[in-house]
Amino acid sequence: MTTEYFTREFMAKMALYLSPLNKKELHEYVKEGEEAIKIREPQGIAPEDYLALVKGIGDYLGANTGKNFTSDYQKIPLTSNITFYSFQLPGGGNLNIFDAGEDGKMVLDTGYGCFYQDCDKMLEKVGVDGFFDTRVVICTHADADHCGASGYFPMMPLMHPTCKAILDAGTRNYGSVNDLDLLEKFYTTSINTMSRMNVPDKVIECGTEPIGMRGLFPIIEKISFAGMEFEVWESLGGHIAGQLLLFEPKLGMLFTSDAFINFATLSKERADYCSIADSMIGSVNVDSEIARTERKELTRLAAELDAELKKEGKQLLICCGHGAVSKIDEDGKLVPATELIHYSAE
Ligand SMILES: [Fe+2]
Ligand SMILES: [Fe+2]
Repeated sequence: MTTEYFTREFMAKMALYLSPLNKKELHEYVKEGEEAIKIREPQGIAPEDYLALVKGIGDYLGANTGKNFTSDYQKIPLTSNITFYSFQLPGGGNLNIFDAGEDGKMVLDTGYGCFYQDCDKMLEKVGVDGFFDTRVVICTHADADHCGASGYFPMMPLMHPTCKAILDAGTRNYGSVNDLDLLEKFYTTSINTMSRMNVPDKVIECGTEPIGMRGLFPIIEKISFAGMEFEVWESLGGHIAGQLLLFEPKLGMLFTSDAFINFATLSKERADYCSIADSMIGSVNVDSEIARTERKELTRLAAELDAELKKEGKQLLICCGHGAVSKIDEDGKLVPATELIHYSAE
């Protein structure tokens, strides 16, 4: 195959990062990569910059595992027997854990597959005993930073049927209508491969029949764990189809996944890493218009739920897909709800 951009020299540098791909897959990957560069060049991304983005994923993930693994996390006691942890991993979405002591753990989004061992060790070091007593795993959507380690758990993860279909299709814009097919597919293969995505063949698919509404979002499922009762909302599909949002009314916790990202609380490094997808695809949202509607609606709902909770002397905790668990301050701004603790593997 003649390649203009994915030269032998470049592919040699990528060999380790792309090693899970077989020969046929690699061939297809290079073909799509060449095509992606030709699409993005007239849109303002120079070929060498595009190649640097692709390699940058592997470089960054590789440089932040093992002894170089770090995270910033929040530890929030919820009840007498449940403590909530939200870990901002080096790249990608948050790993959220409800530690219910004797009742085990519920994991909400797993982080990348390549961070699984690092996270397991981290849990032990911060006094949460690793993943071994996990009882429930929920994946909010099909992006590798949210479901990529789900295959390491002995139980099937719960997800939206469309999320499963996206995983099977191998491209994040499955189930959406836009003109980004090739860019989305190439990005999906890049990130899934380099982050060592591990999702099981069999999953638990949540219900999809609305059993109520929260603003524009249908409530499609209820999940109980250790006395908590989560409403599962179906997103409108702006970021990706089949995305789940969760709300626990008693605790006042809203999990927005990537429908609402708290960019202001991201470290520069995490924000830069986050922008790779935007630069490679053009937008990280499969439908920007719908994504705007979702953000607006979530902002409105968050303010409304917070006002309700305040009557009981509580406050809404907003747990975004990325960034610090936050609350709404007097000026209506999102600010970290608790202090952030830094974790370093070494
Ligand atoms: Fe994410
Ligand atoms: Fe995402």
